[in-house]
Amino acid sequence: MSHNTESKLFAPLKIGAIDVANRVAMAPLTRSRADMEGVHSELAVEYYRQRATAGLIISEATNISREGRGYAFTPGIHTDAQVASWRRVTAAVHAAGGRIVCQLWHVGRMSHSSLQADGAAPVAPSAIQAGEVVFLESQTLERPSMPRALETAEIARIVEDYRHAARCALDAGFDGVEIHAANCYLLEQFIRDSTNQRTDQYGGSVENRTRFPIEVVKAVAGVWGADRVGVRLSPITRAVGDTPLDSDPEGTYFYLAEQLGQLGLAYLHCVEGQTQGDNAAAGFDFKRLHASFGGMYIANNSYDREMAIAALESGHADMVAFGRPFISNPDLVDRLRRNAPLAEADRNTFYGGGAAGYTDYPVLPG
Ligand SMILES: Cc1cc2nc3c(=O)[nH]c(=O)nc-3n(C[C@H](O)[C@H](O)[C@H](O)COP(=O)(O)O)c2cc1C
Repeated sequence: MSHNTESKLFAPLKIGAIDVANRVAMAPLTRSRADMEGVHSELAVEYYRQRATAGLIISEATNISREGRGYAFTPGIHTDAQVASWRRVTAAVHAAGGRIVCQLWHVGRMSHSSLQADGAAPVAPSAIQAGEVVFLESQTLERPSMPRALETAEIARIVEDYRHAARCALDAGFDGVEIHAANCYLLEQFIRDSTNQRTDQYGGSVENRTRFPIEVVKAVAGVWGADRVGVRLSPITRAVGDTPLDSDPEGTYFYLAEQLGQLGLAYLHCVEGQTQGDNAAAGFDFKRLHASFGGMYIANNSYDREMAIAALESGHADMVAFGRPFISNPDLVDRLRRNAPLAEADRNTFYGGGAAGYTDYPVLPG
């Protein structure tokens, strides 16, 4: 069982319209090594090339607009220079036989006025300040600024920003896109009633709170075709600083998964836990979430080899995404196949800096 190199984990799959060589996905990982214009250097090309044996790479979260940026040195996908830098990444991944989708990101209230044009306030469903921290150009961590509530008429403009970013991702040569509706960022701020206290058609009932995320998914699917679009959710994840959850996570997210399931998307990708440390916390039925969606499901959060094999065997998941293990094991698929030990990632080099802790983790000798 645990030594089963014949596991489905290493078998090819068609996920939506994307052919993948195995069921090991690389989870999206912000590494904060782009420049302040959101443009990648050649180091990112090397970093992703090294990890191209993953069945599917989900890129680090990538800003759809200047307004959507909440952390310094994160990449964007809305200017020509950003598209050109991503094109080098996708070409390198494809040349190495891999597949890569772009995670589309708008942070909403998790931003700081120093990262916004003209020092503007970040935008959010409601004017409620986040208790977390964001990373600034000054290399310091600070509490996000007080956001302003979006006017109803502005929502269509943000849907357009997503559409533009989706077109840019197509130009940049990605195989698809993943809409980041997880981890307490803009779309999730709309979904959860703790952060959405609007009284217009985008707040109140679950139908209203999921209206904007669904409008975004439909706009992006209009660019790509639904079978190249995935969505990431994290129904019970709390950000550092204890972001409040929805008052009824199962009711809200089962409804959303069912709506998304009707769109024929490539996949649903779920962070199954409250923090990065726990998996499938009691109190939320992820199997039922998958069933409500009805399509392909990528599971994530603290999976190891044994758990991943079991999740595929039982039908719980179609692919498993690994995050931290991919930071320190560029050859993760090979190590899992050989049941070889994994290297530990150094937290000190997760965010920012250069090659150290980014492109210098070795592969196992053949
Ligand atoms: C350094 C770091 C950066 C991350 N960046 C992102 C991100 O850009 N987008 C996202 O959806 N999740 C992000 N996550 C969460 C991971 O995708 C994943 O959910 C988490 O690490 C749990 O999976 P693991 O136990 O396999 O590491 C990040 C996690 C880490 C450790």
